[in-house]
Amino acid sequence: MKCFSYFKYKHKGRGQRSAPELEEQEKHQFSGSERVTKSSCSSTSSPRGIPKLYEEKGHNLRVFSFSELSRATSDFNRLLKIGEGGFGSVFKGSIKPVGGNGDPVLVAIKRLNKDALQGHKQWLTEVQFLGVVEHPNLVKLIGYCAVDGERGIQRLLVYEYMPNRSLEAHLFNKSYDPVPWKTRLEIALGAAQGLSYLHEELEVQIIYRDFKCSNVLLDENFKPKLSDFGLAREGPEAGDTHVSTAVMGTHGYAAPDYIETGHLTAKSDVWSFGVVLYEMLTGRRSLTRNRPKTEQKLLEWVKNYPPDSKKFDMIMDPRLEGQYSINAARKLAKLADHCLRKSSKDRPRMSQVVERLKEIIQASDKEQEEHHDPNEINSAEVSENDSFEHQEESNSSGSTELWRKRMEHLAKLGEHVEGANRKMFMIQQRANVST
Ligand SMILES: Nc1ncnc2c1ncn2[C@@H]1O[C@H](COP(=O)(O)OP(=O)(O)OP(=O)(O)O)[C@@H](O)[C@H]1O
Ligand SMILES: [Mg+2]
Repeated sequence: MKCFSYFKYKHKGRGQRSAPELEEQEKHQFSGSERVTKSSCSSTSSPRGIPKLYEEKGHNLRVFSFSELSRATSDFNRLLKIGEGGFGSVFKGSIKPVGGNGDPVLVAIKRLNKDALQGHKQWLTEVQFLGVVEHPNLVKLIGYCAVDGERGIQRLLVYEYMPNRSLEAHLFNKSYDPVPWKTRLEIALGAAQGLSYLHEELEVQIIYRDFKCSNVLLDENFKPKLSDFGLAREGPEAGDTHVSTAVMGTHGYAAPDYIETGHLTAKSDVWSFGVVLYEMLTGRRSLTRNRPKTEQKLLEWVKNYPPDSKKFDMIMDPRLEGQYSINAARKLAKLADHCLRKSSKDRPRMSQVVERLKEIIQASDKEQEEHHDPNEINSAEVSENDSFEHQEESNSSGSTELWRKRMEHLAKLGEHVEGANRKMFMIQQRANVST
């Protein structure tokens, strides 16, 4: 999540992490001070915004001590490291269940890099947003740890453990089996449902702002869950068309209208969804450097193979080995094109995308029944038995005081690090401009 004031660029290859890279045009367009101003004057408050909702709903989050999480990961043993992003490292760990009785619970623990203080703002955003949302296609935040001690500042997040890594790993890392067609469609549908919930089903609209393959995590049944809410924002107030923000996100996924204007809408997420649809169809990254020039930008390359053309199948992921419905693939590409319309107003809402995906899946299933392939994995058989589902009941009674203290504590930590943030931010800007 190393993306405080700039775009993240995904490098090709394994073990990749986000690296800051500001294109010339963006450097000029969003100079440091302008960004700060844009960001600070954005109109995001709603009658009951996220902080308010968090006060009501965030009780479910567990607050961990640093030593607890250190124990859970054998002192952040590198053998237990399962990933690394711009924000910091992610470790597999096991914690005691609530109440201390019962089997240990597997978790993923994300630890903010010590030198990434600017990540605090995103850490707080993630705690607040994930503390409020609840949906089968959004990763569950179990709790967090925040200490400003003598040994320095520690910020950690504890999530439910997702055993099948991310969609990115399965699509682009050849050491994993290829994702079967049917599973791809189900993943697309689940991810769309997660976004649709954020955009349209909550009291306050949430714009996710960082939709990409690496943020789509997969559970034991390959059910997708969106992770990484560090860049999430509340949608515009009633009457406003957009939120004005500093431009953040990941190169290759962010909508061009958002990059140009800084005007953020839910349709920016719809664009990113369209990009990921093409990644799923082709098995190619949205941006890559290890292909001929004309093929480095996925969206430009696929334009040469329109969904209705005879040569369309040439873009399909060779790892599918022809095991897909060509009609459904064409429909999916058309849906992607719809999501990738230049004008954000012309893009569909995520709920419409969900409906369309359901139709495509039905048609694809029907076709598949006609030419039955016994090797096909049916990812629709999803167990709803989430091990965390029954975990923590809201302990509202008698905990008000504790809760108030916790809120105060968080606010204080925020103030403290915000100061450091601003400094880092300015340094970052200077560093960016001079490179
Ligand atoms: N809840 C989780 N369960 C299992 N693995 C996880 C979990 N959260 C993250 N990971 C693993 O850690 C990796 C790194 O995640 P992280 O979000 O830090 O970085 P990223 O998404 O790859 O990049 P970025 O910094 O751009 O978000 C993921 O790709 C995934 O493999
Ligand atoms: Mg991520």
